[in-house]
Formats: sequence, structure tokens, C-alpha cells
Amino acid sequence: MKKSITRAVILLATCLTLMLFTVACSGDNKTTEAEPTATSTPSATPTATLTPTPTEIPATPTPTPNPLDSMTLKEKYKDNFMIGVAMPVNVIMNSKFQDDVVANFNSLTFENETKPSAILRREESAKGLPETYTEPVVNLSGIARCMAFAKENNIKVRFHTLIWHSQTPEWFFTEDYTANGTRVSREVMLKRMESYIRQVMTMVEEQFPGQVYCYDVVNEAIDPSHGDSTGMRKNSPWYEVIGPDFMNYAFEYARKYAPEGVDLYYNDYNCYSKTNQIINILSPILEAGNIDGIGMQSHISTSDNVERQIKGTAEKFTAAGFKVQLTELDIGVAKSDKADEIQAVKYAVLFKKMQQAQEAGTVNIDCITIWGLYDSISWRKDESPLLYRFNGSKLVKKRAWYGAMQDPEIKAIEF
Ligand code: GLA
Repeated sequence: MKKSITRAVILLATCLTLMLFTVACSGDNKTTEAEPTATSTPSATPTATLTPTPTEIPATPTPTPNPLDSMTLKEKYKDNFMIGVAMPVNVIMNSKFQDDVVANFNSLTFENETKPSAILRREESAKGLPETYTEPVVNLSGIARCMAFAKENNIKVRFHTLIWHSQTPEWFFTEDYTANGTRVSREVMLKRMESYIRQVMTMVEEQFPGQVYCYDVVNEAIDPSHGDSTGMRKNSPWYEVIGPDFMNYAFEYARKYAPEGVDLYYNDYNCYSKTNQIINILSPILEAGNIDGIGMQSHISTSDNVERQIKGTAEKFTAAGFKVQLTELDIGVAKSDKADEIQAVKYAVLFKKMQQAQEAGTVNIDCITIWGLYDSISWRKDESPLLYRFNGSKLVKKRAWYGAMQDPEIKAIEF
């Protein structure tokens, strides 16, 4: 008896759901990750009314919506740290992504457009000689529209990056601003460095007041495997032209021109493998009051130990007096049937550990930035390292997104 009542209730509920579903779909032209044909729709639905409009099926096979869908990343971590994303300008301006971006992220990094190669202007610098000899021409017009979008949506910008051995043109270091010219002296290069930092910071503040909350002043300058006795990378034009103390000057100039309250960061990869060198080299700069934090890039894989490599290193930096950010997080995963779930677990563990450490005060962290919006445009796309994929018409959250949200359904984690 009970069974037949239950069956009747289930039948009634199913019919009601199908009716509601039909009504909901009939006014919605949006396509989703799967576009079922009429035959894949239950026969109870009048197919004739459904065929002209693509029907929508939920992204996950389970009929119960995941309660986490009513929340977003930035809401989940609002008391812990900002959640950032790195994107190129064309992705930032693509309206297909903007609702998800605005809902989930409150910090933005330009993937390439604030690097020296995008900002420095060779022809104008060369044409303007000798006046431009120590005053290279710079231009920030490439980010203007995105800065307006970020401002409208209360998204702060982390500026990546001022001084780096890569994505900085060779002509910037030569007498006549040509790629094969003779390199300038240390004195001239220090003047160019100061000019570049001053111009960029001044322009940012004039053109986009209050939008940039931190700068990566120097990127990847420490590399003990290609380094001098302290660990400073030797294969960098900055090191070659100025010498091992170029980083001290970069931070000194950055502090001189940075607005009050804007944080200055050193940013690097595999920080766990060179923690002591980083602390030793940066400590005098910290004592001079010219640096605030260390950006840990965090391009990792599911086989990495986040407890030791990420949280442990962040704790050491915090104990040495630095703020910390994870600035370029992506977690690569090897292809397998379980890849999505394995990756979700890693994201969950990492976010949980960092949240716990922030709450305990052992890690002074104010932002975690994901390096890219969706897998197929990631620099590591073969390892599908990000939180979303793109189905051609909209973003689809991967299990990794639910991992980052610490979904209790991800059983492998101890909550
Ligand atoms: C480094 C840089 C980033 C980016 C990645 C590769 O981590 O800091 O700006 O270029 O490499 O995409």
C-alpha cells in the first residue's frame, strides 16, 4: 500500500517537473553544453512545441541542484581573501563571460597587457632620441576599456609585472632602441628603470585612479639553478646591465612612486624550492620598507603536495614578515576517467588549507588568483588546469569549481 502511494507521488512529481520544465524552456533561446534532440526528451513532453527551441538540460546529471550554485567564489571567501582571475583583454571584454566573472571574482590580472612588451613603444622611443634616451615612451591605452569594465563592477586590478627578464624587449636595453644595438651602461639603465616605473605608476593613477591595488614589481628574478651565489638569476638583461642589486632599485623606485596603500610584490614560481634564497634576498628590501608581499605563482599539478609546497611555504613567508598571494594558480591533471574528480579534490584541499591558515593567522594572504578563465585558452591547456570550460556558448563549471568551493560531496577531503 505504502509502496503504491509512494509510486503515485513520484509519478505525480515527475509529471509536474516535466510540465514546469517545458514551460521554462519555451521562452529561452540560450543553448547549453548539450543540445538534446527531441528524441532524447521524455515522450510525455509534447515534442511539437519543443522542437523550434533548443531544450536545456542541467549541466550535471543529478536532478537535485547543487546548493553551492546559489553562491559564488568571491562570496564564499569574502572574509578570507579576494578571488582573482587572469585573462587577456579580448576575454575580459567578451560579454559571454562577464556575468560569471563579475559574480565570482573581485581581483583581475591582465594575462599579457600590462607586461613591458605591451606597454613600451619602440618607434616613438627611437624617434624621440636624444630626449627619450632615459625617458622611454610608454602607453597604457591597451587596457583602458577593461579598466572601465573592472571599475564598473568593483573589481580591483593587480598589475603584473614591471621588471621581468621575459616579455621585455631587448631594444629597451640598447643605446639607440634597436634590437641589435649596443647595450647601455648601468647608470643609464637605472634611469630608464626609474622612468619606466614612474611613468607607469603615474599614468595608472591618473587614468584609472584607485583601480590598481598591488604591483608585481619584479617577476622571477631568483633562480638558484641559473643563479649567482645568492640565487639571483644571472640570465636576465636586468642582471647583465645593472648587476645583482637591480631588484633593490626596482623596489626603491616603486615605493617612491606608488600611491599610499598600494602593495608592492615580488612574484615567482616554485617558491617552495627556493624559499630561503627568496627570504634572504628580499629581507633587506622589507627592512627598508620597500616591499609588502610575495606572490607565489602556483602552477601546480594534482601530484603536488599543497600542504607542504603551498601552505608551508606561505607560512614561512608570513613568519618572515611578508604578505602572501597565490598569483597564478592552476592545477594540471593527467587525462583519465577520474581526472575531473582528482583535480576537484586538489582544488578543495588547497582552498581549505589556505582558508584555515588565513583564519588561524599563520598565513597573511589577501588574494588567490586563478591563472586563466577556462581550459581551452589556458597556457597549459593540455592539462585542463582551470575551473571552467567553454561549450561554445557559455562557461560551464567543472568539478574543480565545486572543489574550490569545498563541496562536501567531494568525499576525499576531511572537513
Ligand atoms: C609566468 C608569468 C606569467 C605567464 C606565465 C605563463 O608564470 O609570470 O605572466 O607568462 O608564466 O603563461
